[in-house]
Amino acid sequence: MSYPSGDRRISVLEGVDCTVHAGTSLSIRGESGCGKTTLLNLLAGLETPDSGAVFWDGTPIGGLGRSELARRRGTFIGLVFQSFYLIPELNAADNVLMPARILGKIGSAQRQRAAELLARVGLADRAHHVPAHLSGGERQRVAVARALMNRPRVVLADEPTGNLDEATGEGVMSVLLEVCAEQQASLVVVTHNAVHAARTAEAGFLSRQHLRRDR
Ligand SMILES: Nc1ncnc2c1ncn2[C@@H]1O[C@H](COP(=O)(O)OP(=O)(O)OP(=O)(O)O)[C@@H](O)[C@H]1O
Ligand SMILES: [Mg+2]
Repeated sequence: MSYPSGDRRISVLEGVDCTVHAGTSLSIRGESGCGKTTLLNLLAGLETPDSGAVFWDGTPIGGLGRSELARRRGTFIGLVFQSFYLIPELNAADNVLMPARILGKIGSAQRQRAAELLARVGLADRAHHVPAHLSGGERQRVAVARALMNRPRVVLADEPTGNLDEATGEGVMSVLLEVCAEQQASLVVVTHNAVHAARTAEAGFLSRQHLRRDR
């Protein structure tokens, strides 16, 4: 992957080969700017590689049209970000429902699943709170529940504890690891935190990717 930089291009992620096996967790560490977020964006089909290919369950996603890619992403990938990215106007339950709404699937089964996921992340009594009335850790738990709403095969988490204090981050990591395991979603965690990386590894990982700064 390379990006334009003035009259030249900077190269990020050269020769990276990453396989996320079904039902496993893996952590990605590497210095700032080495391309961790870029790798997650490529895996999520949010960016297009200028060489190489990304496959979801054996399907090369480069050949999919925009709307088909978005539809498949909605059921294949769940995303958790450092800054939560909840919709401020919506309460916790409606934020969790958002991935289903995007697919046009909102009914009592989805509402029940959202309520169950919120309860699972410890927020049964916060379902009607908007993000501004939730703590940072609670917001990230909502984001974890949202990521799992459509039963994705893979959850990609980019620095999910980066905006949280240590104890809160520990709690969010526990919930993330437990719920992904229960829901049989693979988990990829980008983290600078060695303890969180080790926990992700112990949870059932096959290979840890150490990215090189390759510029
Ligand atoms: N859209 C873009 N246009 C140009 N350059 C970009 C773009 N996105 C990322 N880059 C560059 O690609 C490199 C990798 O960025 P990336 O965000 O993937 O790093 P990172 O490993 O996630 O870093 P951090 O740990 O600080 O989050 C950086 O040098 C960045 O400046
Ligand atoms: Mg990053």
